[in-house]
Amino acid sequence: MTGASRGIGRAIAERLAQRGAKVACVATRAENCADTVAACNAATDGAAAYGVDVSDHAAVNELVKNVQAELGGLDILVNNAGITRDQLMLRMSEDDFDRVIDVNLKGCWNFMRAAARPLMKSSGRILNIASVVGITGNAGQANYAASKAGVIGMTRSLAKELAGRGVCVNAIAPGFIETDMTAEIDAQAADALKGSIPLGRIGTAAEIADAADYLLGPGGAYVTGQTLVVDGGLSL
Ligand SMILES: NC(=O)c1ccc[n+]([C@@H]2O[C@H](COP(=O)([O-])OP(=O)(O)OC[C@H]3O[C@@H](n4cnc5c(N)ncnc54)[C@H](O)[C@@H]3O)[C@@H](O)[C@H]2O)c1
Repeated sequence: MTGASRGIGRAIAERLAQRGAKVACVATRAENCADTVAACNAATDGAAAYGVDVSDHAAVNELVKNVQAELGGLDILVNNAGITRDQLMLRMSEDDFDRVIDVNLKGCWNFMRAAARPLMKSSGRILNIASVVGITGNAGQANYAASKAGVIGMTRSLAKELAGRGVCVNAIAPGFIETDMTAEIDAQAADALKGSIPLGRIGTAAEIADAADYLLGPGGAYVTGQTLVVDGGLSL
């Protein structure tokens, strides 16, 4: 479970632990996952914290091997780590473009590549956290939207590649969810955005965990290659 230190990742990690999973809580720094690990262990013993930059291919390979050895296998991979570096395209630096693609898209690929074999053995599940912006686009987020559209395309491709081994690969495309990531948006822009959401409110991390629960639980057994939009109607 990447990006498990806070926000959506933490909510999904805790939900998985409530369902009996030993959760490997991954974030940039292992110590940032201390609270998530404690909350997971309160539900199911065996959660552990790991630190890695998801864009580092070799380090991700090493981490996935360690997780398998230390937690006794691998049944579920959730790619949730993500960043934004918003800017209108003409002002966006090459570094802002590259870094967002490296973390959001390549990070997701790194983990799927490293975890595919063990997941094929366990007929496991993969869940990628994309964004509704990957479907609709958004001014000021060309890098982020491209990364999330890439995640959606990769999800569909991997679903086709791994279906024969019983692995379901899906994505969730959240809309505007209350986390540290969206706390950066200024109040005026946030109010305008809220006004454009048909359900009239910002979503919660727990509501994304509800969708993850469905896709990763028994209800998701015959669902693959899909992107479940959870956005209060924002993309309608
Ligand atoms: N909050 C929203 O409104 C929203 C909407 C759509 C999609 N999303 C997506 O949901 C996911 C989680 O978002 P959030 O709002 O909880 O974000 P957040 O900023 O609260 O948390 C991001 C997590 O990713 C981890 N992370 C970031 N860069 C990393 C790296 N290089 N290596 C390892 N870990 C790294 C952080 O440590 C943290 O745990 C992201 O992929 C985001 O794009 C969020």
